[in-house]
Amino acid sequence: MASTSSRVLNSFFAQRVMSADEAAALIQPGSMIGMSGFTGSGYPKAVPTALAKRIEAAHERGESFRVSVLTGASTGPELDGALGRVNGVELRAPYQGDAELRKRINGGDANYMDIHLSHLAQQVDYGFFGKMDLAIIEVTAILEDGRVVPSSSMGNNTTWVERADKVILEVNAGQPLELEGMHDIFYGLGLPPNRIPLPLLKSNQRIGTPYLKVPQEKVIAVVNTDIGDRASPFKEPDEASRKIAGHIINFLEWEVKKGRMPSNLFPLQSGVGNIANAVLFGLEEAPFEGMAAYTEVIQDGMVHLLDVGKLTSLSATAFSLSPEGIEKIMPKIGSYRNQIVIRQQEVSNNPEIIRRLGVITMNAMIEGDIYGNVNSTHIMGSSMQNGIGGSGDFTRNGYITFMMAPSTAAKGKISTIVPMVSHVDHTEHDLQVMVTDQGLADLRGLSPKQRARLIIENCSHPDFRPALRDYFNRAEKLAPGKHTPHLLDESLSWHSRFVKTGSMLA
Ligand code: COA
Repeated sequence: MASTSSRVLNSFFAQRVMSADEAAALIQPGSMIGMSGFTGSGYPKAVPTALAKRIEAAHERGESFRVSVLTGASTGPELDGALGRVNGVELRAPYQGDAELRKRINGGDANYMDIHLSHLAQQVDYGFFGKMDLAIIEVTAILEDGRVVPSSSMGNNTTWVERADKVILEVNAGQPLELEGMHDIFYGLGLPPNRIPLPLLKSNQRIGTPYLKVPQEKVIAVVNTDIGDRASPFKEPDEASRKIAGHIINFLEWEVKKGRMPSNLFPLQSGVGNIANAVLFGLEEAPFEGMAAYTEVIQDGMVHLLDVGKLTSLSATAFSLSPEGIEKIMPKIGSYRNQIVIRQQEVSNNPEIIRRLGVITMNAMIEGDIYGNVNSTHIMGSSMQNGIGGSGDFTRNGYITFMMAPSTAAKGKISTIVPMVSHVDHTEHDLQVMVTDQGLADLRGLSPKQRARLIIENCSHPDFRPALRDYFNRAEKLAPGKHTPHLLDESLSWHSRFVKTGSMLA
């Protein structure tokens, strides 16, 4: 590993080098802070941990000290975990996945704004979040001429540096220097009414610069670290995930046969987690060659598809590798420089581009209802799990949009296909294909009642299917409107039964 001081090669930035504690001491209570970080990669680690210590000490003295934190997406234990543990978060957006912070959000201590990942930077640009006081950004290196090499994620860094009054850089010597040249940062999108079209016509096209522009006069501290990214262990795909992957691949083969897609498909977007990884590994055996990905995060499965030659290029905003993935892939990351592009999330998740390229989107859901509405975020209607992330950016705008889940959760006590979802993230108007281990429902061109029959018959688990049929049949007869028939006294009774008895089974 490189020595921690060797990564700050510019003399101006070198004069700003200090410890994490000294940098954290410059942060004011009540600050609005834009931090780097996306799916556990490229987030600042040393300064947020030091800030959490300061907040804890202030709370012990009876002083109030909390900050608002905007990021790219989820971070790790040194940021969301540390600030959550000390109850230091006033407002958090746009996505999180940390157990400590989740406790604060669901306990009512922290305000959380769950917002589409493509929306946050532009809403900060529009002034909807007020003034941004500070940006804390992890980077890989600062070159002699002051150009800054970004880290393992881009996220919203460009906007945070542009909008914040002051900037703290964490220079992480643990990130491979070979990341230099992999990023593509587009400057100059502009604001309405002068916003310009993004000139990106191919998923792997480069339209910007690999370096982050950081105005020297904003930089108040530079902190050296070598702390590793949070890496989520890779789980071998289970039986349900493998079945879901199989249904999706059969469907894509059918679409190619029907001439609705070329044999190398359209660019793929894949959410995170077990099911997404299973689909990626399933694609290795599938008869599609020369595929491309236009997605948010690069998981092990994506890189594996590059390695076996199935995928030709990969565009994303962040790496999100397992510990084994980091060990295997990061030392040779330079060899992927011509295949991988890391963009800011305003571009990776941009609806204009997703629609232009015809992206095939695959995301996991918590539950879906018989009409095709999807809940990706809430447990039993009230508790936040993670957030909508980029699933709305992609599902609203993709060419073919999949939502997938095992047909049951909680060891069979919960049906993931329900009469009415307990929270709506994606509406019946967005989604085209619902998939569970039981099968796949192609909802394109169908009315609500046609969709309901298909979802119940193809996607629901046999333990719950008779009750869903019964609900739908009675709703068709008894509901005052026959377009989307619901029994309002009953539509959320499955959830309330689970809350009361621990099972949705009657
Ligand atoms: N009702 C209640 N709880 C449910 C449930 C349901 N229908 N389905 C799943 N759960 C619970 C699981 O039991 C598990 O609980 P635990 O953490 O206490 O064990 C938890 O939700 C997560 O479920 P899991 O099966 O481990 O799913 P996952 O890790 O594949 O995540 C999502 C699934 C939907 C939570 C996750 O994909 C997500 O956050 N999606 C939204 C953001 C997104 O799509 N990002 C990618 C966009 S690019």
